[in-house]
Amino acid sequence: MRSYIEQADFFKGNDPEKIAEEFGTPLYVYNEDIIRDRMRRVANVITKYPYRANYSCKTNTNLDILKIALSVGVNADAMSEGEMRMLLKAGFPPERIFYVCNNVSADEMRFAIDNGIPISLDSLDQLRLFGEINRGGRCAVRINPGVGAGHHEKVVTAGKKTKFGIAEEDIDKIFDIAAEHDLKIVGINQHVGSQFLDATPFLAAVDNLLRIAMKFGDLEFIDFGGGYGIPYHKLDDEKEFDMEHFSKEFTEKLDRFIPQYGSAPLFKSEPGRYCVAEGGVILGRVHSIKQNSGIKYIGTDVGMNVLVRPSMYDSWHDIEVISNGHVVYRDKDELEKVTVCGNICESGDVLCKDREMPKIADNDLICVLDAGAYGYSMCSSYNTRLRPAEVMICSDGSVKLIRRRETFEDMFAFY
Ligand code: LLP
Repeated sequence: MRSYIEQADFFKGNDPEKIAEEFGTPLYVYNEDIIRDRMRRVANVITKYPYRANYSCKTNTNLDILKIALSVGVNADAMSEGEMRMLLKAGFPPERIFYVCNNVSADEMRFAIDNGIPISLDSLDQLRLFGEINRGGRCAVRINPGVGAGHHEKVVTAGKKTKFGIAEEDIDKIFDIAAEHDLKIVGINQHVGSQFLDATPFLAAVDNLLRIAMKFGDLEFIDFGGGYGIPYHKLDDEKEFDMEHFSKEFTEKLDRFIPQYGSAPLFKSEPGRYCVAEGGVILGRVHSIKQNSGIKYIGTDVGMNVLVRPSMYDSWHDIEVISNGHVVYRDKDELEKVTVCGNICESGDVLCKDREMPKIADNDLICVLDAGAYGYSMCSSYNTRLRPAEVMICSDGSVKLIRRRETFEDMFAFY
C-alpha cells in the first residue's frame, strides 16, 4: 500500500499540517467513519443466534469514542472502576456494561454491585469475596480455557502461564462456593489473548469453553473474549483479519453446541483493538536529525509517554511522513535506514529501529498509524510531559477537539 492515510482518506480532505498547527503535537487523531465501520463489523460476527459484542474499552475510553459504540449498539466491558465510570458517563445503561475484573477490592466490586453492573469473577477467592458482600447475587466466572494466543507473551491471557481465569479442574469448587453463598452463576467468559490474525487458537478455545459450558446448566450467556487482530504492517499489504470466514466457523461451532445444550444462551465476544486501532493515528513533529555512530536518529515529540507499545512489546507501527502537508511516498530509490525516536530520557524510547523510510527533514510531520487502540489509554506523564490532545475527524469532515491537551495547571492540581 502506497499510503494508508490517502487510501483511507483519513483526514477527509483536511490538511494534517493545519490540524497539527491548530491543535499542536503530539496529537491523537481519530476518524469517526473507520471506527463506526469496525464497530459495526464486530456487532455482526454472529447473526444466526442471540449475540452481542462488548467493546473492550481498555483500548480507548475517550467519551466520544464510547458514544460511537453506544450508538452503533455494541455493549462494553470494563476492567476497573474508572472504566465503569467512563462508560456510565458516556450514557451506557449499567446492564450494557460487563465488569470483567481481576484482583480487585471489595469496594471496587461494591461499585459494580451498587450500580447494577453485571460482574465476572476471575478467581475462587474473588468469587468468595463477591459472595460475602453480595449473598444471593448473580455473577459470571472467567474460565481459563487452556489455550492462549497473542502478539507477545505479555498479552497472552489464557493457557498455562497467566494470572487470569479459573482452571477447568477447579470448576467443582465454583459450584461449592456458589452454593455456600447462594450465588447464581449466570454466565461464563474467557479471553485467550490479544492480536491474532489467524483465528485457530481462538476457535480452539471456543470449543473448550463450549465443552466446559456443558457443566453449567442454565447459563444466560457465554462470552468468548476478544483478540481479533488488525494488520499493523498495512503499508506492506498485510491482509486484514478474515472476519467473514471467522464468522462462518464460529457459527458452525454454535450450530453443534445448541442442540447438545438444549437452548441458545446469549453469545458474546469482547473485541477492543479491532474496533479502534485503525481509526486512530498520532501526528508528531520532527525536531532534530542526527548521526550517532553511523545510525541516523530522527528525533520527534512522539515519545514512549505518548505511545508505549513499541518500547513495551517491540510492537511495529507503520509510520508515514508528511512534508508541507503532503505524504512522502516510500519510493524505493529514496529510502534510507533510520531510527525514529521520541524525547524521553531512555534509550528504549524508539518508535522504530533501522527502518527503511522515505527521506525525512527537520520540521516534517510523522504520522504513526494504527494508534487508536492501547495508545492514549496507555500514555503517561513520564518525564513530567503533558498528555496529548485528541481530535476527531467527524463523518461530516469537521475536525473536533474531543479531549484537550493536559496542562501544567492540571499537574499541579494534585497538590
Ligand atoms: N477482554 C479481556 C478480558 C481482555 O483482557 C482484553 C485485553 C480484551 C477483552 C480485548 O482484547 P483485544 O480485542 O483488544 O485484543 N496493551 C496490549 C494489549 C493488552 C490486551 C489486554 N486485554 C497491546 O497494546 O497490544
